[in-house]
Amino acid sequence: MGIVGIRTAILVVAGLAWCGSVLAGGWEERVFNVEHFGARGDGLTDSTEAFVHAWTAACGARGASASLLVPAAKSFLVGPTKFRGPCAATRITVQVMGTITALPASAWDRQNYWLMFHQVDGLTVTGSGGVLDGRGETWWSNRCRNGDSLVLMNCTNLELSHFSSKNSPQMHIAVIQSSKVNVTQLTITAPGDSPNTDGVHIDRSEDVHITGLTIGTGDDCISIGPGSRFVNIDGIICGPGHGVSVGSLGRHGAMESVEHIDVRNVHFINTMNGARIKTWQGGRGYAKSISFTNINFTNVENPVIIDQFYVDRGVVPNAGAVALSNITYTNLKGTSSRKTAVDFDCSDSGSCRDISVSSVLITASDGRGTEARCRNAQGKTSGYVYPRIPCLS
Ligand SMILES: *[C@@H]1O[C@H](CO)[C@@H](O)[C@H](O)[C@H]1NC(C)=O
Ligand SMILES: *[C@@H]1O[C@H](CO)[C@@H](O)[C@H](O)[C@H]1NC(C)=O
Ligand SMILES: *[C@@H]1O[C@H](CO)[C@@H](O)[C@H](O)[C@H]1NC(C)=O
Ligand SMILES: *[C@@H]1O[C@H](CO)[C@@H](O)[C@H](O)[C@H]1NC(C)=O
Repeated sequence: MGIVGIRTAILVVAGLAWCGSVLAGGWEERVFNVEHFGARGDGLTDSTEAFVHAWTAACGARGASASLLVPAAKSFLVGPTKFRGPCAATRITVQVMGTITALPASAWDRQNYWLMFHQVDGLTVTGSGGVLDGRGETWWSNRCRNGDSLVLMNCTNLELSHFSSKNSPQMHIAVIQSSKVNVTQLTITAPGDSPNTDGVHIDRSEDVHITGLTIGTGDDCISIGPGSRFVNIDGIICGPGHGVSVGSLGRHGAMESVEHIDVRNVHFINTMNGARIKTWQGGRGYAKSISFTNINFTNVENPVIIDQFYVDRGVVPNAGAVALSNITYTNLKGTSSRKTAVDFDCSDSGSCRDISVSSVLITASDGRGTEARCRNAQGKTSGYVYPRIPCLS
C-alpha cells in the first residue's frame, strides 16, 4: 500500500469512527472509497451492499464535507439502490471517476429507478471520466417495466456535473421535487430508437440551471414536467432525440402549471422536434413565460411546435386545455426536414395567447420553402420571420 493508500485508509477509519459518534473538530474533507467497503471494480461482482455501506458512512460523516469515491478505471456492478438523506455534512459529493454499471433487467425487483438519491441537501454528483451505464439494452425489447437511471428526489442545493450517462432503461436523469439545482457538462447517450430514454427530466422542481450538455437519446433531450418553475437551459447540443419539451401537461384533466422556462443556445441536430410545448386535451392550469432564444436547427422534423392535442388526434370540442401564454421565440434559424417548420396547434378554448416570434429563418433541408401551420394561436411577430406565420399579427 502506497502513501496515498495509507492516507486514504486512515481517512476511512477516521470516517468510520466519526459515523454515529460526535467528536470535536475534524472539518477536513473525508473520502469514503467504495472499495474499502468491499466493492469490487471487476465489472462482475455485485457491489450494491458495499455502495450502501459507503454511502451510510459518508452521509453520516459530520463536518463541512464528505465524499463517496468510485475509483477511476474500474467498473462496479450495482443494482437498484436508494441513497437516503438527510446527511450530516453540509456538502456531500459522490465522485464517480470510474464506471457504475447496472445489474441486468433480470436482476431487478420491480424498482422503477436504478440510483436514487432521496432527500439530500447539498449533494454533488461529479467525476471526470465517470460513467453511469444503465444497460438499457437488457430492457428495451421488453417494455413491461423499467427504471430511470439517476433519480434525484426531494433534494436541495444539488449539483450534477462532468460525468456521462448512457443506455438508461428509461430516463437518464430525473430531477423530482427538488430545488436549487445545477446540471452542467454532462454527456448523455442512448440509441435514437430506444424507448422513453429522455436525457434530463425535470418534475415539480424549481430554480434549475442546465448548462453545457450533449444529449442524444431516443426521447426528449430535456423535458420539463408539471410543477416546474424557474428553469434555465443554456448551451445544449441535442440529437438524436425528440427535442426540448415543456410537458406533456394536463393528462387526464389534471390541473398543472409551469412557468419561467428559459431555453437558449441550443443546437438541434436530426431531431424529431426542436422547441416543443405539448399538452393534453381537457387539462387545466397554465404554462406561461416560456422563451426559446438563439436556437439552431439542422434537419429537424418539427422545429417549432405547440401541440395541444398531444397523443390524442381526435379533437373534442370545448374540452379545455392548459392555458399557454407569454411564449417567446427569438432568433431561430436552420433547416427543417418537413415543409411545416412552425406548427402552432392550439385548442379552441383561446388557450394560446401572447405568442411572440422574432428573427426566424428556417428553410427546408431539401432547399425548398417552408410554411407555418396555425390553429387558434394569437400573438405577434417582429423582425424578419420566415416562414411567415399567418395567425400572428
Ligand atoms: C422533503 O424533504 C424535507 C426535508 O429536506 C422534508 O421535510 C419533507 O417532508 C420532504 N418531502 C417529501 C414529500 O418527501
Ligand atoms: C449553481 O451555479 C451558480 C452559478 O454558477 C452558483 O452560484 C450556485 O452556488 C450553484 N448552486 C449549486 C447548488 O451548486
Ligand atoms: C448556430 O449556428 C451559428 C452559425 O450558423 C453559430 O455561429 C452559432 O454558434 C450556433 N449556435 C448554437 C447554439 O449552436
Ligand atoms: C413574459 O416572460 C418573460 C420571460 O420569458 C418574463 O420576463 C416576463 O415578465 C413575462 N411577462 C409577463 C407579462 O408575464
